[in-house]
Amino acid sequence: MNTIRADMTKSIDPDLMVLAGSIIRSGGLVAFPTETVYGLGGNALDPEASRRIYAAKGRPSDNPLIVHIADLGSLSRIVSRIPDSALALADAFWPGPLTMILPRSSEVPSETTGGLDTVAVRMPSHPVALELIRKSGGYIAAPSANTSGRPSPTRAQHVYDDLNGRIDMIIDGGPVGIGIESTIIDLTEEVPMVLRPGFISIDMLRAVVGEVRMDPGLRADDPSFRPKAPGMKYRHYAPKASLIIVEGEENAVRARIEELAREAEENGGLAGIIATDEDASSYTHGIVRSAGTRSDEITISRTLFGILREFDDLHVSVIYSEAFDTPQLGTAIMNRLLKAAGHQVILV
Ligand code: TXA
Ligand code: MG
Repeated sequence: MNTIRADMTKSIDPDLMVLAGSIIRSGGLVAFPTETVYGLGGNALDPEASRRIYAAKGRPSDNPLIVHIADLGSLSRIVSRIPDSALALADAFWPGPLTMILPRSSEVPSETTGGLDTVAVRMPSHPVALELIRKSGGYIAAPSANTSGRPSPTRAQHVYDDLNGRIDMIIDGGPVGIGIESTIIDLTEEVPMVLRPGFISIDMLRAVVGEVRMDPGLRADDPSFRPKAPGMKYRHYAPKASLIIVEGEENAVRARIEELAREAEENGGLAGIIATDEDASSYTHGIVRSAGTRSDEITISRTLFGILREFDDLHVSVIYSEAFDTPQLGTAIMNRLLKAAGHQVILV
């Protein structure tokens, strides 16, 4: 299959957008930018399109897809009930990086929801995403546009690397703003529950709907706790080299990573180091990448997945990362980093 590359980094190209919409309406797949990560879009109401999404990604089909809408009026067709909490959260955070789990209507094929009787819904804020949804009939199922198991794509080139030749079109909207996937909140529970942390923090959610719990399955690396979102159980975001997080007091962390990187070198290996602007230049061994500055945590979330992919390309033998327990995004960043590390942490 020839994959069309559509450049919309500067502005939306109306002709290509109409073409993209017609591809999705006729059952094809288009990757597109959102404010979180790039998505791989197909018609959410077409079971065949959902099957194609799973096949292109190599994703297990019990892992449900998020349905993306462009206006609140579209919600009633795909859900059987809209709780007040959903309206309040939509008012506060849509369009934006929040996905809500709601009871599904019979219009949504079970292929899209991985057989569940609930559906995940999000209204993204990226103008290219919104325009594509409108041109495609209003309902786009879109997982992150990576091959299953690889870090989510934060640039069109990442999508190209994973999916060229397997999908109909890639729309390039430039690098994304947030860089980690949306917060998922389950509103079908008695107390709303966060199934995946993201840019919208639990405190921001509580400020709107009161009590909110964190899925206990997220915290534990004990496999007897199963996360409720099927996708959170997979070893996602995994770089090829083994990743180890070093956590503790700043100077001690730096010293330990420096020592570990030197040891890797002495053993004929090459370490990749994930540092910050504040201390990247202090390392003298390994390949050092700064994830951003601790004083502006979104620079870290935006960069992280790209660095993991870069270390894959550079064939490092091991990756050491500082921990990023920053105020708003720390929970989400550490959730992704811990998963990528298979929960290997050195405390210093
Ligand atoms: O930011 C995002 O959410 C991006 C962009 C493209 O919108 N999308 C994304 O999709 O991250 P994906 O497929 O990579 O992750 C969706 C997550 C999976 O962990 C899946 O198991 C969970 O959402 N999920 C989807 N539907 C669900 C449902 N009905 N109940 C529980 N979890 C659900
Ligand atoms: Mg994903």
